[in-house]
Amino acid sequence: MDKEELKRRAAARALEEVRGGMKLGLGTGSTAKHFVELLGERVRLGLEIIGVPTSEVTRADAERCGIRLTSLDEIDRLDITIDGADEVDHHLDLIKGGGGALLREKIVAAASDRMIVIADESKLVDTLGRFPLPIEVIPFGLGATRRALQNAFTAAGCDGELKLRPGKDGHAFVTDGGHWILDAQLGRIPDAPRLAQLLSVIPGVVEHGLFVGMASTVVLAGADGIRTIER
Ligand code: A5P
Repeated sequence: MDKEELKRRAAARALEEVRGGMKLGLGTGSTAKHFVELLGERVRLGLEIIGVPTSEVTRADAERCGIRLTSLDEIDRLDITIDGADEVDHHLDLIKGGGGALLREKIVAAASDRMIVIADESKLVDTLGRFPLPIEVIPFGLGATRRALQNAFTAAGCDGELKLRPGKDGHAFVTDGGHWILDAQLGRIPDAPRLAQLLSVIPGVVEHGLFVGMASTVVLAGADGIRTIER
């Protein structure tokens, strides 16, 4: 089956959890975009919800779909965030940020009572790390940040190259927050919670794409149907 169809099916299953009056975090990426479109169809039929987008791209998509939006300055908590992931392991830990929205995605997920991850089944892995781990950094002092990152990888039992994510016209990719992204090609992350802790305390690291203990449900769509994994 076509991968886009699988992503849409996972999104449709997550939509079944949505009720009128809910406050929703709206994720970023191709799978989350399916969710926003399906949610927009329900809104046009009268569903009343309000959303907080996790990127400027999602903000534009949601506005186009007629979804009412707010921000975490206006409201306190969200009922559910629905978002995609680049990798999911069996502990429901994630790598996110392939689309560069990891910082806002993590802020919004942390402000939510539940995080539902939607994905096609190819995202499920035994060990995180084949997908390069995105790390959002401040441009100032990049060399020092790189060295601190390499030390953190060693301390967490992994090793790999860091690549500055390219953007347009030979410049670095710039996130919605005005930062850069280093993609860490680690291959295998044997202890994701340990690495997450070590990365979080490095000056110069704004946020990293390891989402540990945040997802409450993962909806995986495959050729044989939909599988839901609960924490
Ligand atoms: C955006 O920054 C990412 O975290 C995405 O949620 C993630 O990359 C999944 O994207 P796809 O649904 O496009 O695979």
